[in-house]
Amino acid sequence: MTISGSKNAALPLMAAALLADGPVTITNVPVLNDIFTFNKVIAETGTEVTYDRDQRELTIDPTQMDSYVAPYDLVRKMRASFYMTGALLGAAGYARVSLPGGCAWGPRPVNLHLEGFRALGAEIEMDGGYVIAKAPNGRLPGGSFTMTPSSVGATVNLVLAAVRAKGRSVIRNAAMEPDVVNLCENLNTLGARISGVGTPVLTIEGTDRIQPGTINNTPDRIETGTFMIAAALLPGSDVTLTNTLERDLGSFTDTFRKLNTGLEITDSTIRVRSADRIPPVSIQTAIYPGFPTDLQAQWATMMALADGKSTVTDHIYPDRFSYVPELVRLGADVERRDNMVVIKGPSVLKGASVMSTDLRASVSLVMAGLAAEGETEVLRVYHLDRGYETLEDKLNAVGAQIRRVSE
Ligand code: EPZ
Repeated sequence: MTISGSKNAALPLMAAALLADGPVTITNVPVLNDIFTFNKVIAETGTEVTYDRDQRELTIDPTQMDSYVAPYDLVRKMRASFYMTGALLGAAGYARVSLPGGCAWGPRPVNLHLEGFRALGAEIEMDGGYVIAKAPNGRLPGGSFTMTPSSVGATVNLVLAAVRAKGRSVIRNAAMEPDVVNLCENLNTLGARISGVGTPVLTIEGTDRIQPGTINNTPDRIETGTFMIAAALLPGSDVTLTNTLERDLGSFTDTFRKLNTGLEITDSTIRVRSADRIPPVSIQTAIYPGFPTDLQAQWATMMALADGKSTVTDHIYPDRFSYVPELVRLGADVERRDNMVVIKGPSVLKGASVMSTDLRASVSLVMAGLAAEGETEVLRVYHLDRGYETLEDKLNAVGAQIRRVSE
């Protein structure tokens, strides 16, 4: 199975392209609904967006940019559109961006983004659900900001705003996720001056220009982890993932080793052979390099099949458990306690109709369906298509039986 380019790393690269004074080509961009949505958001500014789907290459040319607005009807579809605030502040010294909504599992605040922009010298005001961000005299001075908690999105947005500031900026307790590292490394190849990449302290010397050029998206670590778990929970699996980067999984790999599967790792492939039994392995999510919150639903699904009791705790999003009632419908024994679920296995799952609520919950229900007896119908799979490229083709190629039916 080939791993696609990362959704959560591609979106920041797309926003970063607005900072350049010419066309930027991004490689390994996955063909996903969220990418199409963000293309529309970017095109709203007058920026030219060309997407070569076969090549998975996106070219963004901001030279004709003449508007600095990201409208509600697009931002509400994909909250990462909020990255337009940092990009437009950095590129044009002005941004009018709709506040993003919440999501399926609860509030998704942006207070750190706004406090951070102010720390860099921006004037921020709210107007009818929109954030108006202005740089005095058209260019941010730069400044220092310590974020609590560490936030991927806020780190991305502040890097985008800071790279073309007049002076130096320092971001402390910055996120270290591979998505952020990939953004900073790519921006540096286009002339940005970011140091401390991959550490909690990013120091950014403002530069006058970000050059045109080609930047490279990184493989999707969440898709990688998802398929590793899918392989581990299906008896008799022997799956090799290609075009991937195990190092981006952080501590997930060590946790995964506790499953006693066959695991062979090279610099771009990961081979997983399922074990005879799934031991109960409890996990707690944390910021990188801890266990990713985007993999907790998938792990909980596997633990329903494990022979024993385990817990899954989410410290990033305490409410990210909307998949639990759906797993219970399939016959799992899962009990929610605040930001933790207690899972008693092994359960024999039986196929049923279940409802997707968000991207990672939906893929967990597909995985549960693969392990269940009989047929499972997963509804609202538009959630799935936001973040997984041709999921059923990839899984069917390794023995699954999934077909897409019109709802
Ligand atoms: C990114 O969201 C990802 N989205 C999420 O993936 C991922 O779950 C999340 O990081 C955590 O890893 C994209 O990259 C597009 P955060 P983001 O800001 O940036 C709190 C998926 O499935 N917070 O790191 O929004 C927040 O409430 C998606 O692909 C504030 O309090 O996440 C949370 O508890 C879902 N104030 C914590 O920080 C703020 O201003 C981490 O959130 C911002 C965040």
